[in-house]
Amino acid sequence: MDLIFTLLVLLSLAAGLWFRRALNRGPGLKLPPGPTPLPIFGNILSLGRKPHQSLARLAKVHGPIMLLKLGTRTAVVISSPESARAVLHKQDQAFCNRFVPDAAGVLDHDRNSVAWMPVGDQWRVIRKICKDKMLSGQRMDAGRGLRMEKLKNLVGHVEECCASGRAVDIGKAAFTTSLNLMWTSLFSADAAELGSSSSGEFRDIVSGIMELVGKPNMSDYFPILRGLDPQGILRSVEAYFGKCFAVFDEIIDRRVEMKSAGDDRTVWNDMLETLLEFNREDPSGFTLDHVKNLLLDLFVAGTDTTSGTVEWAMAELIRNPNKLQKARHELRTVLSPDQLIQESDISRLTYLQSIIKETFRLHPTLPLLLPRKATKDTELNGYLIPKNAQIMVNTWAIGRDTEVWKDADKFIPERFMETDIDFRGQHFELTPFGGGRRICLGLPLAYRMVHIMLASLVKDYEWKLEEGVMKVDMEEKFGLSLQKAISLRIVPNKIV
Ligand code: HEM
Repeated sequence: MDLIFTLLVLLSLAAGLWFRRALNRGPGLKLPPGPTPLPIFGNILSLGRKPHQSLARLAKVHGPIMLLKLGTRTAVVISSPESARAVLHKQDQAFCNRFVPDAAGVLDHDRNSVAWMPVGDQWRVIRKICKDKMLSGQRMDAGRGLRMEKLKNLVGHVEECCASGRAVDIGKAAFTTSLNLMWTSLFSADAAELGSSSSGEFRDIVSGIMELVGKPNMSDYFPILRGLDPQGILRSVEAYFGKCFAVFDEIIDRRVEMKSAGDDRTVWNDMLETLLEFNREDPSGFTLDHVKNLLLDLFVAGTDTTSGTVEWAMAELIRNPNKLQKARHELRTVLSPDQLIQESDISRLTYLQSIIKETFRLHPTLPLLLPRKATKDTELNGYLIPKNAQIMVNTWAIGRDTEVWKDADKFIPERFMETDIDFRGQHFELTPFGGGRRICLGLPLAYRMVHIMLASLVKDYEWKLEEGVMKVDMEEKFGLSLQKAISLRIVPNKIV
């Protein structure tokens, strides 16, 4: 322990010297302001259990471009629409690569994952495969039937709960729906039944990964500790990744076996087939490791985020019954009584769209986006951002900034009825999907899924809290994604 302490002191002295040198770099360029760092730990202790909230408070004191020392690392926190525009759009080139937390590098995930690898040829190829083969307008339209099928299962589950008087666990039901949709698009099969334990197990894996990869990790701040893994984060992430890769290996092996045995079903018009074809054409450029890591990316990035958004939206609507009623009224006016919403209806449901925007403003599921880093020393609004600094865009803080939004803490979807502000990466006061070239790859799918899921839950049901529960708990649980600390469990009643 003494040795570790001595090493930490030496490292912190070296970091201090480097810091001072950086301060003197170039006339007129100074580092951004920030809270005074403590010896060795820097500002780590200020992060607390909910770093997005602590950073929002600190930014109110130190400004929208704020510098922190996190152990031996330098981090810059962005907390205003103008500075977010600079990082995500105007100076995207300098900030488009990721700062990779150690947990994302377990089992070499970062090298093979589209979400973590640096911008370059390989990243472009994988993004293009996803866009063209899974998320293009044409592909999205072709997958509409599949999504409607999954939506019917969700509605069926709600109906069962109505009949038996049971509560629906909204996050879990939305997660299973998103998981099955993703699974079917990728593998032409369902992963889990609604309410079954296998969906629960996969949900535990995904939320475990999200929590651990987002959690402040001492080995990120003091790389010398990496081998020791003091919080056990890397070991746990390895176990989770290992479980996912074992499942993917089995599915891939089975597919390859069946194909080589001459089974050429047309049902294999799925994403796995496309990825394996790519791998057969170019096994050195697009390896099986890329295939498995992309599958992991899509499951992790695409399920928890989508279901978390639906759960937060429902929680806000239950707390605001007049808004719930207004949304239901719109749905029942635009759609006929027994009609299940179609994706083509979304454009006519302006209040529903406003509810989703307002939910993203108050509850962005990735509150600090995915971390970026400065690829070189860069000037940002007159400040020097040192090479390799971790960049966090605090989209949660921007969403709740009283200088940007009137009544910022209140849930008021109406604020979006009169503006053209949306979340596709052009309006930097609302960036739940990030922006620039690294904007969320799954945005078109997420857009459709959150709207149709929420509409199906709202249109034909009244909801009440379980017996004995007095109010909706809005406590947040921080990780890479921001989830409700306590699941929303509510009892439906069919409106006749
Ligand atoms: C409500 C749902 C979702 C939210 C809020 C969300 C949010 C985000 C954010 C903030 C980023 C980082 C963007 C940046 O650095 O500027 C991201 C990246 C990403 N998202 Fe999503 N996402 C959602 C759904 C999905 C879905 C459904 C998929 C897959 C089908 C997906 C796949 C990805 C991937 C692969 C990346 C990494 C892109 C890259 O680094 O090039 N996401 N997402």
